[in-house]
Amino acid sequence: MPSARPHRFSRPPPLTSARLPVLVLGIETSCDETGIALYDTGRGLLAHALHSQVALHADYGGVVPELASRDHIRRVLPLTREVLRESGARLADLDAVAYTAGPGLAGALLVGAGIGASLAHALGIPALAIHHLEGHLLSPLLATPAPQFPFVALLVSGGHTQLIQVKGVGDYSLLGETLDDAAGEAFDKSAKLLGLGYPGGPAVAALAASGRAGRFTLPRPMLRNNSLDFSFSGLKTAVLTAVRDLPPDAQARADLAAELQAAIVDVLVGKSVAALEQTGIPRLVVAGGVGANRRLREQLTAAAQRLGCTVFYPPFELCTDNGAMIAFAGALRLQQGAHRGTAAGFTVRPRWDLASLSKA
Ligand code: KG4
Ligand code: ZN
Repeated sequence: MPSARPHRFSRPPPLTSARLPVLVLGIETSCDETGIALYDTGRGLLAHALHSQVALHADYGGVVPELASRDHIRRVLPLTREVLRESGARLADLDAVAYTAGPGLAGALLVGAGIGASLAHALGIPALAIHHLEGHLLSPLLATPAPQFPFVALLVSGGHTQLIQVKGVGDYSLLGETLDDAAGEAFDKSAKLLGLGYPGGPAVAALAASGRAGRFTLPRPMLRNNSLDFSFSGLKTAVLTAVRDLPPDAQARADLAAELQAAIVDVLVGKSVAALEQTGIPRLVVAGGVGANRRLREQLTAAAQRLGCTVFYPPFELCTDNGAMIAFAGALRLQQGAHRGTAAGFTVRPRWDLASLSKA
């Protein structure tokens, strides 16, 4: 579970590139985590600081957008000073500022975008508007070994469940996605029904650790059809019914949590395997908060091995929202020339289709 205290770590894999190294500040404020990082294309990730708002929203059972925005405003500059101090860099050393421009909560996005664009304007350097999911998608490239293009990406966060074919930076085609709830949402909503806290994924996983899947039976929606789309909303309804009829023994909740986790993981693994088979691509990348789930990692790795494929994960700390993935995506985009045509001012896109980046 993300800590409510600022968290730091540093991990260095640099981009191997003949170009001059560039230093990018990344700002992530799309939801309930303020993430700030410095990525240098020559030296790798120099510093990364995160403030989680989990404690702030816990009493409400979910993210309260207005509270999220107010807290981001309080955190962005102190965390920026912190990563600068930790890395020994100065503002004048920055080559660009990358910020999450969407998708996400409008007010929360505006905080990072407003501060990021103003800072870039004052320093006379480019401001890069980064797609949050592109950040997640490229984050496994921050690990060693990094996957080669092309790869299939399973993007599983609180708001998204997608299978994407990635041919290169900015070249993304959608293979399948959820028709209703995201996998993370299925964890979060079911967790509430089980009387667990927010965010639900880590809470369900912790309870499931002492439970046994199979005692209760939950559906594996759309697992056996031919499409690569997902549907998780029926699962939540099935959990509701199971909770109402729950036997009184102490083990029952843990067994139901284990079955819930198994159902979500079975569907994610089944569809990922189908995507690898359909595309013939032997590399799978897993990104987004649900990618931190250990059972998902174990099952995916085993299923991919049977196919002769390799699965790549971001470091655990970079599965959930963070600034490192935004700084990194910004650095890749900067090297691609994304800064050309960057004008003063900024815009955010609370709803932003990832596939539209490929047409840009
Ligand atoms: O990517 P992320 O940090 O934020 C979004 O962009 O949505 O993902 C958050 C989601 C939440 O639904 C949370 O419950 C889920 O990721 N999550 C997990 C685990 N850690 C976080 N779900 C299952 N198992 C986990 N260990
Ligand atoms: Zn995310």
